[in-house]
Amino acid sequence: MLNQLKQKVLKEIKGAGDIKILEGIHKSYLGRQGELTKILRSLKDLSEKEKKEKGKEANKLKQEIEKAVKAKSRKFSAKGGPDAPLERASGGQDKDWIDVTAPGVLPAQGHLHPISLVQQKIEEIFQSMGFSVVEGPEVETEHYNFDALNIPKDHPARDLWDTFWLKNIGLLLRTHTSPMQARYMEKHQPPLRIIVPGRCFRHEATDATHETTFHQAEGLMVGEDVSMANFKGVIKGFLKRFFGPEVKIRLRPGYFPFTEPSFEVDIKRQDKNWLEIMGAGMVHPNVFKAVGYQPGKWQGFAFGMGLDRLAMLKYKIDDIRLFYSGDLRFLRQF
Ligand code: DAH
Repeated sequence: MLNQLKQKVLKEIKGAGDIKILEGIHKSYLGRQGELTKILRSLKDLSEKEKKEKGKEANKLKQEIEKAVKAKSRKFSAKGGPDAPLERASGGQDKDWIDVTAPGVLPAQGHLHPISLVQQKIEEIFQSMGFSVVEGPEVETEHYNFDALNIPKDHPARDLWDTFWLKNIGLLLRTHTSPMQARYMEKHQPPLRIIVPGRCFRHEATDATHETTFHQAEGLMVGEDVSMANFKGVIKGFLKRFFGPEVKIRLRPGYFPFTEPSFEVDIKRQDKNWLEIMGAGMVHPNVFKAVGYQPGKWQGFAFGMGLDRLAMLKYKIDDIRLFYSGDLRFLRQF
């Protein structure tokens, strides 16, 4: 009986004039109510022995029909394509088959790291206030990182910066962006206004607010009568544009060897606590002396702010280590 059926199907397939007819034939045998489908379904009522024999035969016929239909459908569309729905339904094993109507796979698009976004914003705001953006080396000499900034060897103030020393060559990984103050002033005469964004390094234990690698932006403005009032104006203007007009800040006295007086700037967080975001002060006369500026003629302010801290406040991030974890779940949010 199955043999007869087989002859009949194969003949019909052979005679099919177009894809529609072929689909019809496929359906009439293997569709839900198809002839062969019914036979396959009825197997369950047979004895074990019959089931085995007939089942084998019926499944073989099913495969033969599928194969014949597939072969025929390929003839209707030389390269398959949307005219080959049967082939698609059966898993589309034909490697040459391309569905030009299928939606494409979008290429993954990268974007800037949150620290880079913050850096760009800072540069933009300071540039609009007449500051130039300059960069300095990450591997520094002891002279620029410390001596030129009024931090002599063996001075306890050096302990403020836990330093990564490069073995036996007198070089180190800069612990702050301040060395660029001296480098820049040696090459340029005042009046001047610069900011120096960049990566810094400290040899210290990491926690939610400390990393061995982090970012700072140094600022320096020098002129004949640059004062504290100028600093307050510039820094308030900057923070208002960075965080929004309602930002609250406060200045506290601080200590840095390269400024006198020195202070620290805090910003009020949403939880009402103050968070330190930068050190600042009026440039110490010894720093001017070290770069060869005429004593008494110039004055200026300097500041160094933590970009990571600013990014944490802006984006409400509670752990600095996330910036350097490379965790895509974190990074994709920006
Ligand atoms: N370099 C200091 C630090 O890393 C921050 C700083 C303080 C920079 C005062 C300055 C400054 O330019 O005037 O802790």
